[in-house]
Amino acid sequence: MASVVVVSRSAAADGVVTLELAAPDGRRLPDWAPGAHIDLVLPNGVTRQYSLCGDRWDAHTYRIGVLREPDGRGGSAYVHDRLEVGDVIGLGGPRNNFPLVPAQRYLFVAGGIGITPLLPMIHQAELLDVDWQLLYGGRTRSSMAFRDELARYGDRVHVVPQDEHGLLDLAGFLGEPRTDTRVLACGPAPLLAALAEVTADRPAHTVRTERFVAADAGAPARDTPFEVELARRGVTVTVGPERTVLAAVAGAGADVLSSCRQGTCGTCETAVLAGDPDHRDSVLDDDGRSAGDCMLICVSRSRGDRLTLDL
Ligand code: FES
Repeated sequence: MASVVVVSRSAAADGVVTLELAAPDGRRLPDWAPGAHIDLVLPNGVTRQYSLCGDRWDAHTYRIGVLREPDGRGGSAYVHDRLEVGDVIGLGGPRNNFPLVPAQRYLFVAGGIGITPLLPMIHQAELLDVDWQLLYGGRTRSSMAFRDELARYGDRVHVVPQDEHGLLDLAGFLGEPRTDTRVLACGPAPLLAALAEVTADRPAHTVRTERFVAADAGAPARDTPFEVELARRGVTVTVGPERTVLAAVAGAGADVLSSCRQGTCGTCETAVLAGDPDHRDSVLDDDGRSAGDCMLICVSRSRGDRLTLDL
């Protein structure tokens, strides 16, 4: 696995630190595009995904922002309390499930630390001289990171701390649907749920969201076992209701790379050769789902009796 060294850390807001990361030997880091995230494999054995929020044209430095999550699973606490400049950590990616699709106009919606993937998108929109606006909500002004960087964009940016102004007026910000506009949003689940409600009558491809926490996928399509054929190995395994496809194929010798194991990072994407996947991830959009040619096997399952995977 590749690794990076922490070259700087600083406070970006209450409860948010930014880290700058570089290759230990000073070489170029892999290229990335706005919306990309990396995996950090922390010394405590925890792997977490963080959006890249720095300058994509800086080939030697990645920047991430990390929110301290009191109820988190140990990743953010480690970063805040123990990770220091000079520490070397494992790196996966970059990977991009949230690309900035071409458009003539963008409406960005950020909630809290959800601002991180949108910062490089805003930078790119500026470089392309494309019209854009940002609606940025947070609990309090002091908890909202990168306000100083955003200040230069003037009235394109609408900063809305909840304790001063209440909840975001999504409908007012989005206005009437326009064919030239794409909505890109990142933030906590209640914000994305409210956005889904407000945009329910818009074509799905005009609204893209990035989730840090998996969406509730509801009950699986079936609660009975199904078979998964690993086409390249000529092996078939049975997947019972208590087992993931990822675990089942690993048991048959197919070690598919995985990271979040909750359907949010895209690492375990696997090509489907036959069958009808029960998509339970938060990564694929409607087009990706209906194509039926790939699935995230850490959470997704099968609707039918048999799936054939390119493994
Ligand atoms: S491991 Fe992250 S989506 Fe499957």
